[in-house]
Formats: sequence, structure tokens, C-alpha cells
Amino acid sequence: MRPLVEPHLTALLPYVPGKPIEETEREYGVTNIAKLASNENCLGTSPLATSAVRAMLDKAHLYPDAGAFALKARIAQFHDVEPKHIVIGNGTNELITLLCRLLLAKGDVLVNAWPSFVCYRMGGRQQGATEVAVPLTADFDYDLDGLAAAINSEVRTKLVFLANPNNPTGRCFTHSELLAFLAKIPNDVVVVIDEAYAEYVNLDDAVDAVAVVKRRPRTVMLRTFSKAYGLGAYRVGYAIGDVEVMDLLDRLRDAFNVSSLAQVAATAALDDVEFVHRSRSHNDAQRPVLAEGLIARGLIVTPSQTNFLMVTLPDDAGIDLPSLNVALLRRALIVRPVANYGLPRSFRVTIGAADENQRLLTALDAVFAEARAGAPAGSP
Ligand SMILES: Cc1ncc(COP(=O)(O)O)c(C=O)c1O
Repeated sequence: MRPLVEPHLTALLPYVPGKPIEETEREYGVTNIAKLASNENCLGTSPLATSAVRAMLDKAHLYPDAGAFALKARIAQFHDVEPKHIVIGNGTNELITLLCRLLLAKGDVLVNAWPSFVCYRMGGRQQGATEVAVPLTADFDYDLDGLAAAINSEVRTKLVFLANPNNPTGRCFTHSELLAFLAKIPNDVVVVIDEAYAEYVNLDDAVDAVAVVKRRPRTVMLRTFSKAYGLGAYRVGYAIGDVEVMDLLDRLRDAFNVSSLAQVAATAALDDVEFVHRSRSHNDAQRPVLAEGLIARGLIVTPSQTNFLMVTLPDDAGIDLPSLNVALLRRALIVRPVANYGLPRSFRVTIGAADENQRLLTALDAVFAEARAGAPAGSP
């Protein structure tokens, strides 16, 4: 018999999401769970988005606008670009997969940093592309010189993903650093700047990706409604890029890839300046509280420009990460171990509501006290 599929497809690994609340309730018999695993907005959903969706619930028999006219027009206004520069995706995730499908064939090279968002790697592997993964620096920053060298040493490089800020580290590069990097990159290489956490960034020299897209045609910016706008369940993200790339990308997507509910939610959310402002202020206030609490308990915290922190257990913590994770799950707290990013002693934690952050710190006190007393791992 002929093989069912090509070997690069049998080698694919599934995406590992944050542990769902319902599964944790079933497995650990707990309620009142604080899910701090997927960088969702702890303030909930944009209220303007929810009202807009309510107003159209009885129109669910109609197919969505395949061209997402109203949403594109609103995004165009928001970023001061023309709608033809925009493609709407079923989450940014879909756009990442489609960019890989569009640009990578077997033998082409995808250049990526590592650890960085795992979906870039997954998209490249689906195409049978070769991935060149350039390690982050010791401080978990992008090694932009290393990336430029990797791109230039491999003529088959077609596509580069830059997560800024990066997931799972929360680190960010500046606009000047990006420009210095791009000056070294051949013009025909497509550079994707994934700004899933852009709304949380506090930097004087923050990247202005739209300005870069306007100057360098083969640059694509990605944004999502899943984080600061609180629309993770709706699945909406968008790409802004040159018309040549965007037109091709748009032809690859399914006609009705984004539901009407998602389209109206996202359109309204862009008007919800108050909600985004509140989300950002909450994050600015709570991120240092959580970081300092974690540091006070002996944990190593990577400085972050996002709504999450990457946290590392020191060698003398007296507990390993899988045991710590189980102990937290038993206390109804879901964080995200990042062993699959090659960081076996680290986890990622979303900045939660003030009481959730405090619950995590209190739980850590109990878990570390038990570890010191030699109690069985995970017992509440
Ligand atoms: C860097 C980065 N890009 C993209 C995404 C995907 O976002 P979306 O919900 O729009 O698919 C995430 C989600 O965690 C992310 O961290």
C-alpha cells in the first residue's frame, strides 16, 4: 500500500493548549478555578462587543459577510491604511498557518527564534519546510544579529516570524532595533511581526509595525482580538501587509472563515477604548505586584511587556516543575508549564485579577512549605 501521507505530516505534533477549566474540575475535583494559563483578559470581554453580539443573535441563520467589509473598514480607519492591505483570520493562528501555506514549499527555509510561539514551527512543519531556529540570548531576548546571520547564510529563506513581544518570554525589541535588523535582510524575504500583545507594551521606542509595512513591502503585521480586547472565544485576528502578499493570502482562506458574531464583536471592540485602557491599566498595576511576590518567594521572573510572566524555578527550589504544577492544579490554579519550549523548570502565568494573583502567591507559600517538610507532591 502507498503511504497515507508524506513523512513530514506523520511527524506533526499536536498543539498543547492551556489546560481547560472543565477538564481541571473533572480531574482534580476542584471548583472556583483561576485559569492563568492562556493569557486571556482577566477583566473579561469588551462590553461593547458583547452588546453588539447580543443585538444580532437572532440573525444567526445568515452566512457571514465573506469579505468582512465593516470590520476591515474599521481596522483600516484604526491603523490608517486602506482595506486592501488587510486580511481577517480565524484568530491570528489561522493567518500564521496560511502564511506558511502561501510562502513555504518543501525545502524552503523558515527562520524563527526559539523559544518563540510554537505555531510558527508547526506551520512550517505542515509544509515540509526546513526550520532554522535561532536561540534567544541568555536574557531571553531576540538575537536579532543571529537571526540576520541565519537568514543571510541560507538562500532558501522565504519567511521569518518575529513575535514582539515574544511568547513565552514576554520580552520585546524596539523600533530602532527592528530597523537595524531589517536593513540586513534581503528584500524578498517575508518578515512577519506578530504583535499579539502590542496593547500591553510600555516602551518609548515601541515598534510601529504599520510604518514598517508601508516602507518595506514584504513585511506583514499580525494583531489579535484575543488578548487586550478579551475576544478569545470569537477567534479573530488580522494581518496588515502589502497588497501583493495580502491579495494572495486572502485567496487561501476559507470564504466564511470568521463568523458574523466574531466580526461584529471585533468591530465594536475597536471602539471600546475604555475597556482596552482599563485592561492595560490593570496589567500595569498588577504585573509588578505578581512579579515582586514571585521574586520574594525565590522564583526567577523574566521582565515582561505583556499580560503574562515567565517564571523559572531556581535549582534549590526543593520541588520540580511537574510536581509544582500538580500542586497548583489541586488548589484550582492553572498555569502553563513551558517544557515544550525547552524550558523544563519554567512556567508562564497570566496576570490575573488581584485576588487570583494573591491566591497564586498564597498557594506557592503552602506548596514550598510542604516541599521543605517533605510532604508528598501536590497534596493540598
Ligand atoms: C505570539 C502569539 N501570536 C498569536 C497568538 C494566537 O492568537 P489568536 O487567538 O489570535 O489565534 C498567540 C496566542 O497565544 C500568541 O501568543
